[in-house]
Amino acid sequence: MCGIVGYIGHREAYPIIIKGLKRLEYRGYDSAGLILYDGIDLKLSKTKGKVSDLEEISKEISTNGTIGMGHTRWATHGVPNDVNSHPHMSNSGNLAIIHNGIIENYEPLKKELIKRGYVFHSDTDTEVLVNLIEEVQKKEKLKLGKAVQVALNQVVGAYAICVFDKQNPDEIIVARLGSPLAIGVGENEFFIASDASPFIEYTSNAIYLEDEEMAIVSLDKPLKIRKIKDDTLVDPYIQELQMNLEQIEKGGYDHFMLKEIYEQPNVIKDTYRGRLHANQGLIQMAGIEDNLEKFLNADRIIIVACGTSWHAGLVAEYIIEEFARISVEVEYASEFRYRNPIINKNDVVIAISQSGETADTLAAIKLAKEKGAFVFGVCNVVGSSISRETHAGAYTHAGPEIGVASTKAFTTQITVLTMIALRLAKAKGTLSNSDFHRYLQELELIPEKVAEALTTNDKAKEIATKFKDAPNCLYLGRGYNFPVALEGALKLKEISYIHAEGYPAAEMKHGPIALIDEHMPVVVIAPKQGHYDKVVSNIQEIKSRSGKIIAVVTKGDTQVRELADYVIEIPDTSDALSPLLTTIPLQLLSYHIAVLRGCNVDQPRNLAKSVTVE
Ligand code: M6R
Repeated sequence: MCGIVGYIGHREAYPIIIKGLKRLEYRGYDSAGLILYDGIDLKLSKTKGKVSDLEEISKEISTNGTIGMGHTRWATHGVPNDVNSHPHMSNSGNLAIIHNGIIENYEPLKKELIKRGYVFHSDTDTEVLVNLIEEVQKKEKLKLGKAVQVALNQVVGAYAICVFDKQNPDEIIVARLGSPLAIGVGENEFFIASDASPFIEYTSNAIYLEDEEMAIVSLDKPLKIRKIKDDTLVDPYIQELQMNLEQIEKGGYDHFMLKEIYEQPNVIKDTYRGRLHANQGLIQMAGIEDNLEKFLNADRIIIVACGTSWHAGLVAEYIIEEFARISVEVEYASEFRYRNPIINKNDVVIAISQSGETADTLAAIKLAKEKGAFVFGVCNVVGSSISRETHAGAYTHAGPEIGVASTKAFTTQITVLTMIALRLAKAKGTLSNSDFHRYLQELELIPEKVAEALTTNDKAKEIATKFKDAPNCLYLGRGYNFPVALEGALKLKEISYIHAEGYPAAEMKHGPIALIDEHMPVVVIAPKQGHYDKVVSNIQEIKSRSGKIIAVVTKGDTQVRELADYVIEIPDTSDALSPLLTTIPLQLLSYHIAVLRGCNVDQPRNLAKSVTVE
């Protein structure tokens, strides 16, 4: 959470910082700030609010300075206000810092610094860190780079930082532990950012710092990367970026979320391109082929993830168990990491994460590795921490997902996990040849069926107008579509702030049915395949208690139509693949409800796109 940007080079830094912060705003957006060096002095501007607010107040300080740093915040320590916003200055006014992460032992450090005469203006852990660096610098008479290193060896926590010293204005010191940090390498210029989006139009060469690495980014000296712990030099690995500018812009849509919903037919195709060969009856995924024996010998598969990725994991549980007959457990990474789980050498752990930076998922992976498990990652962001921390993996190829509400990440994760299940089933012989071929063909058709499901947009909008003021909403589904009910409810609550709950439809009579009256909208996922008759009975139970039913049904359905108040039709597919279609109208419904309620769809309150704190 929090986005950081830095620039050192020959261009005017201000527009690069502002534009970069706007692109990183998905990471946190409760306050923003920047600092520029104009060749003589530092110009600081920061405020509670969005980057657009910062832009308003900082125009007058925009200088021709070619060095600068900026920050967009998701508050951890201290409420979002002007003072707690970054950058933070050291007591002397010489050092400036921006920080993404948490310094866990900031309180004892702060007490110690107060004893030595330091004064603190904010409630942040970051202000403690910059003063600790200053104290080390003064006491041990060290250059900034060395002082940062010594200070970082005293802190516990997570960080991606940029530190600037106005007395030595030719360099920015950067370091990372647990929070991402990329360095864009241009012609006689460097960009620093939480991800590559702020510098994509300037350079396609990037270095991703690894955990416990730091660098002095300077125009005078070659870039050197060092280990924070022992000062050893690391060879910089320059990566060529695949991202392009178009991918990170709205492309005519009102919101990133809507753009990303509409990208699904294409990105699902990108996900299976080169991996799914329906005509030849083949699934080829390098990460699986290279480790096939590990999967085939697995006593069980444990899936760890958070939020929407966890829901994709639940869908995968049904699919892997059904197709490949391997026992699967799905765990919230945040629970798994703290409950001393039993993990055996023959367990395969699959970690799912769009961002590849989620702190709890990362910690769960480390724990599983320590206990000897083989860990496989399903990530979207190429080069992310999780993709590097896992033994092997498969990218989802969804492209940048910027809306905080996950949409295309979910369907592409399910696509990858379905291909894994099919590949394992083929190797184990747990699916008949004809079923295997049928699933390959059906999966290949999913993009065009998703495109058809997207034509329900007007219907979703119409239904949204009816229910936009509902205080609660229930989502019900069974089997493969139970996780879709959870996902539908999560989507609604996170962007529209309507309380919503997802339930397995049959569980309704064990409690939630008490909530049903004529004011309660109930979204029921009832495709023709699967447990259709059972779900119809559940719909009848709701109907007889006057609940308002919005049903997602297979095209041509007549039975549910008679009972439901509203129906949304999706194309037919097999039960196992139906989540890829049933989820589409639910995304659209939440989107329209949130828009009608005047909510900030792409940046819902209190949230951030990548949760890099626990
Ligand atoms: O990047 P990850 O997939 O690891 O993120 C996990 C969750 O934080 C994420 O899915 C979150 O729940 C989304 N906002 C849901 O739309």
